[in-house]
Amino acid sequence: MIKVSNISHFYGDEQVLYDISLEIKEDELVFLSGDSGSGKSTLLSILSTLLKPSSGELLIDDSTLDDVENLDKFRQENIGFVFQFHYLINYLNVYENIALAALDDKKKNINSLLENLGILELSSRYPNEISGGQRQRVALARALINEPKIIFADEPTGSLDSKNSKIVYELLSLAVKNGTTVVVASHDMQIQDHATQTIRMIDGKI
Ligand SMILES: Nc1ncnc2c1ncn2[C@@H]1O[C@H](COP(=O)(O)OP(=O)(O)O)[C@@H](O)[C@H]1O
Ligand SMILES: [Mg+2]
Repeated sequence: MIKVSNISHFYGDEQVLYDISLEIKEDELVFLSGDSGSGKSTLLSILSTLLKPSSGELLIDDSTLDDVENLDKFRQENIGFVFQFHYLINYLNVYENIALAALDDKKKNINSLLENLGILELSSRYPNEISGGQRQRVALARALINEPKIIFADEPTGSLDSKNSKIVYELLSLAVKNGTTVVVASHDMQIQDHATQTIRMIDGKI
């Protein structure tokens, strides 16, 4: 579903990715591992269409992004994002945060999704009224609401203790069972148990 060939990336004249080629198939849970500064976030941004690589090719379902007319719409329909910081909106409650991201025909699924993630009872609470682990589950719900083909998560458990991290990994695995492909960049090795493919990055190379 995603194939990158010979990707290199520079920030200014500093090269941070070197000739990366890899393939991600449907229904995979790919773990992008590596030390801080090894290039995980940069590669994840490229794979998720947020960053254009300095050179190399990205193919999604055999098409280049040059063929995509409206990239924002393409992302909203196909890709879910989860980051270390939840980016929930503080003056909207849990339900409203998800509704804001939901395409019109997906809004009816919000309550059943919250129930599946074990957070339905938090629906009318505000982000500052729930715990960090709960906030990250809400962020995950927001990423899942449009039933994306693929979810990209960058250090999704970076601010969580190991118990809450485990819950997030289990929910990501559940998403994979339900047909979503998941790519997680993390320096936490705990996710390796759930991964179908582990890619290790060292100094911008795999
Ligand atoms: N926006 C940026 N501008 C300049 N340098 C950056 C930027 N983002 C990351 N870098 C540098 O690129 C390298 C890889 O960073 P990053 O992809 O964030 O790695 P990781 O996610 O593995 O910590 C690091 O040396 C980092 O300092
Ligand atoms: Mg990073």
